[in-house]
Amino acid sequence: MKEQLEAIRKGALEAIAAAQETAGLEVLRVKYLGKKGELTAVLKQMGGLSAELRPVMGQLANDVRASLETAIERQSGILSQKALEARLAAEAVDVTIPGKKPPMGHKHPMYSVLDEMKEIFLNMGFEIMDGPEIEQADYNFTKLNAPENHPSRDWTDTFYLTEDSSVLLRSQTSPMQIRAMEGYGVPIRMISAGRVYRKDEVDATHSPMFHQIEGLVVDKGITMADLKGTLNAVIREIYGPETVTRFRPHHFPFTEPSCEVDIQCYKCGGKGCPTCKGEGWIEILGAGMVHPKVLRGCGIDPEEYSGFAFGMGLERLALGRYKISDMRLIFENDIRFLEQF
Ligand code: DAH
Repeated sequence: MKEQLEAIRKGALEAIAAAQETAGLEVLRVKYLGKKGELTAVLKQMGGLSAELRPVMGQLANDVRASLETAIERQSGILSQKALEARLAAEAVDVTIPGKKPPMGHKHPMYSVLDEMKEIFLNMGFEIMDGPEIEQADYNFTKLNAPENHPSRDWTDTFYLTEDSSVLLRSQTSPMQIRAMEGYGVPIRMISAGRVYRKDEVDATHSPMFHQIEGLVVDKGITMADLKGTLNAVIREIYGPETVTRFRPHHFPFTEPSCEVDIQCYKCGGKGCPTCKGEGWIEILGAGMVHPKVLRGCGIDPEEYSGFAFGMGLERLALGRYKISDMRLIFENDIRFLEQF
């Protein structure tokens, strides 16, 4: 029996060392150590041995079993290490091959102009504020000194959200003047940009939703000269240093005096062309000295403080900046158009 056991050990160890796959190793384990395996078969003959030999052979059999188990485990380790190395070699990535560049978009031209604007105003010490598009009529109109019968309050002009006309989609960014003064007091220098809504039909110069930039400066001793100086500086940053401006009297409820600011047509240089509708001038913003009633309504003493405000359409600004002729192009998101900027 001893020879039998040693023969099993020898044969098995050789076979195990030669195994090249984990599956084959498992077959060998069953063949030698399984319930119907060779070692088990030998052990079944133990009953026929003498009382002296039985423990000796038992000891040897255990020894053989242990050495086979160890050998199988070691070979299994070697095989899985090899498998791992083979996989790593097969799946190796060449990090030096240039990658595929995903198509990248870029900023919408109107938001590029907005960013330019923000930069200009930040450099002049203004702060940037955000405010609600759903607004109270109080802020959109009343606190801005708009009379009860003002045409812009009409349901045909403004999107109201409640039957009692108290809540609406803001029709201008001017309510941010009130929110700024109420929220932060004076002195203040701020701009606020965002969407506004009006019941306008879509055409080359109108859209029911568009963007405005509002500005407000309130401090001691602010005059119309500050208004003109500031706006001229901004306009020349945006349209170029040679740009000619014109301040024309106008009326807004929340400023007194009020004006509109035109630039000389960038297309024809003032001679008159389709872009400026033959006028030679293009209107770009409304502005004025903050009305004393508006200041007082926000708890600010107009004897002590004064200020100026302005509001401009962002779309129109972008059209002028990039010499685009139709506002619809700004909203249609046709990639062939947007790619040009
Ligand atoms: N809110 C005005 C509009 O939508 C524009 C405007 C005019 C804003 C004069 C102002 C201002 O702040 O002072 O037509």
